[in-house]
Amino acid sequence: MKYPEYRPRRMRRDIKLRGLVEETFLSVKQLIYPVFVKDMEEERIPIPSMPDIYQFSIEGVLKEVEEVIELSIPAILLFGIPKEKDEVGSEAYNKNGIVQRAVREIKKRFKEDILVITDVCMCEYTSHGHCGVIREGDVENDETVKLLAKSALSHVMAGADMVAPSDMMDGRIKAIREILDLHGDYRIPIMSYAAKYASSLYGPFRDAAESAPKFGDRRSYQMDPKNQREALREIELDIEEGADIIMVKPALFYLDVLALAKERFNIPLAAYSVSGEYTMLKLAASKGFIEYRRGVLEMMTSIKRAGADMIITYFAKDVAKWLKEHTL
Ligand code: PBG
Ligand code: ZN
Repeated sequence: MKYPEYRPRRMRRDIKLRGLVEETFLSVKQLIYPVFVKDMEEERIPIPSMPDIYQFSIEGVLKEVEEVIELSIPAILLFGIPKEKDEVGSEAYNKNGIVQRAVREIKKRFKEDILVITDVCMCEYTSHGHCGVIREGDVENDETVKLLAKSALSHVMAGADMVAPSDMMDGRIKAIREILDLHGDYRIPIMSYAAKYASSLYGPFRDAAESAPKFGDRRSYQMDPKNQREALREIELDIEEGADIIMVKPALFYLDVLALAKERFNIPLAAYSVSGEYTMLKLAASKGFIEYRRGVLEMMTSIKRAGADMIITYFAKDVAKWLKEHTL
């Protein structure tokens, strides 16, 4: 049947008709909110390149998490900014490091009311800002993997509900799974930043996490934006090594990768809508050039439509509010 008998506009005439044929749904159950915790006196410090996002002290984080729980957001993704940095990122695996202490406090206070997922990486903790140990001008893979495994275990020992390695070293999922299992933590899932691209969109995050590399860039470990098959290979390897959730990052510029991953793999799929995606929309909206709510919801919907199960997003609190008010 075709025009004039068939008319697609018939099903778009009215909001209820449109509702009947909706194909994509947002749910607060699948939102994860990133949170930055810093070893500092001030309760919170705004991040200039990320409007409405803050670095928090442990006290500040507790208040923020309370708000997150209030909004029914199930999980936070926690990043730490230590007082001291060194060549080998010692604070990343210090059992009294900033993330480890924050996790302990959050779990003590809120127990099962929130899932605490910790980002596992070295770049916030190394003096040079790279995601691992530097040998001869580049990140040394295998040495770094050992430290990442140690970091992950220290997070879990502090009470983390899940770990999320974001470093892109080869073999780190296997090493983390092994160390956790050896310690009896076989119940703790690993969310792997499996297909993480060397993206321009991380700029604002690096202000927030104070993690910009002091020399060079991350292209010897993060993926080349030109490659799609390579992402599938990375994901496949991480599944074999024991990842429970795989992630594509960034989201918006990589929806093709998300869609392919969804089609190819039978495993929960996360999308990280990164800092640059947030800031682009936030700034355009603050100038009145883009309608904020419609823009955010369209962005989130497109990520879901492409195939993501869960979305890690700085917009999580706003989306949760809108969902609560039933105003989508
Ligand atoms: C660190 C890390 C980065 C992000 C999450 N973990 C940035 C980077 O690789 O420099 C980016 C998140 C964002 O931009 O919101 N390994
Ligand atoms: Zn890193």
